[in-house]
Amino acid sequence: MIAKIQIPPILKIGGGSFLEVPSVLSRLHCARVLIVTDTFLVSRGLPDRLCDMIRTSGRDCEIFSETVADPTSDVVAAGVRAFVDGEHDALISLGGGSPIDTAKAIGMLAANGGHPRDYKVPAVIPSAGPVHVAIPTTAGTGSEVTRFTVITDSERDEKMLIAGGALLPSAAIVDYQLTLSMPARLTADTGTDSLTHAIEAYVSRRANPFTNIMALSAMKIIWTELPIAFNEPQSETAREAMMFAATLAGIAFSNASVALVHGMSRPIGAFFHVPHGLSNAMLLPAVTAFSICGHEGRYAECARAMGVAAATDSDTAASGKLVEALYRRNNELKVPSPRDYGIAQDRYFELIPLMAAQALASGSPHNNPRIPTAEEIEQLYRQAWA
Ligand SMILES: [Fe+2]
Repeated sequence: MIAKIQIPPILKIGGGSFLEVPSVLSRLHCARVLIVTDTFLVSRGLPDRLCDMIRTSGRDCEIFSETVADPTSDVVAAGVRAFVDGEHDALISLGGGSPIDTAKAIGMLAANGGHPRDYKVPAVIPSAGPVHVAIPTTAGTGSEVTRFTVITDSERDEKMLIAGGALLPSAAIVDYQLTLSMPARLTADTGTDSLTHAIEAYVSRRANPFTNIMALSAMKIIWTELPIAFNEPQSETAREAMMFAATLAGIAFSNASVALVHGMSRPIGAFFHVPHGLSNAMLLPAVTAFSICGHEGRYAECARAMGVAAATDSDTAASGKLVEALYRRNNELKVPSPRDYGIAQDRYFELIPLMAAQALASGSPHNNPRIPTAEEIEQLYRQAWA
């Protein structure tokens, strides 16, 4: 088997790497930067700080702060206009997964034209976009190192998965110090997203020896450090470990793909505006229990790596302990069910067939150890309700 591994050509990881933006822009020969971020970060002053740093280094810089959670095709269109009208030659995304995903789509459309839905999986993106430097401020999505973006079609309320090497950022600057002020809920949700990336990359039918190492290392770190980051937000050790692990998990799933949890999670996010990591968390234990029979040994290895099962446990015992541990962890991190989150029951159950169809169409369930039918996905949505 020949594994194809794609990662950003420049990766800077560590406390204070944020200050290296000008030197990265020099290496990439950029002169007119558009920062893609959101209004929350603008209110905290970080984009202005970045812009000042870039201007001081002799470059032009503007800020596009219209990105929203679950980025939409309308916001991407506005970003493309800002990029083209400002005659920019580089994008810097600053924020969680949403600004990074938005910048990827802006670059894709600036280079290729059209609408994000034209590039929905399994479509191919013809040309790479302009330089894109991704700077995450959460330890979670891993989007800074992935070849994916997820954009919601504004007209159809569909979260579309778009994939291709053209979406890989030119550089990722991973500075855990930017995550120190993350609130507990965001820490839990983005951290669980990373855990899901690691587990799904490891059990994926497209896993390879390179991604296996990344995924196992990531899940081991996240399992230990996430509760600490959640309960002790100022713990620099936990924040640094989580940021590192989120990047490892991102590299793993970018090259091995995610599976059924992500396939089912996107429609919940699109229809009910549940944060991505939280909808993953709502599904992870039940989907894991469903999937184990597809490859029990792989799930047992996850349990051992995370330390929730002993080396001497049988695969059956270890994978069972994994499911128990995931349910327990959801309680510790106060993950609500869809019902407790406040989703309207009628609407949820009415949409189950459509959500199942969209999940299957995304292709992610086909990477799962146990490939589900539409009826089985519908049953899992019903099971996750309360
Ligand atoms: Fe994710």
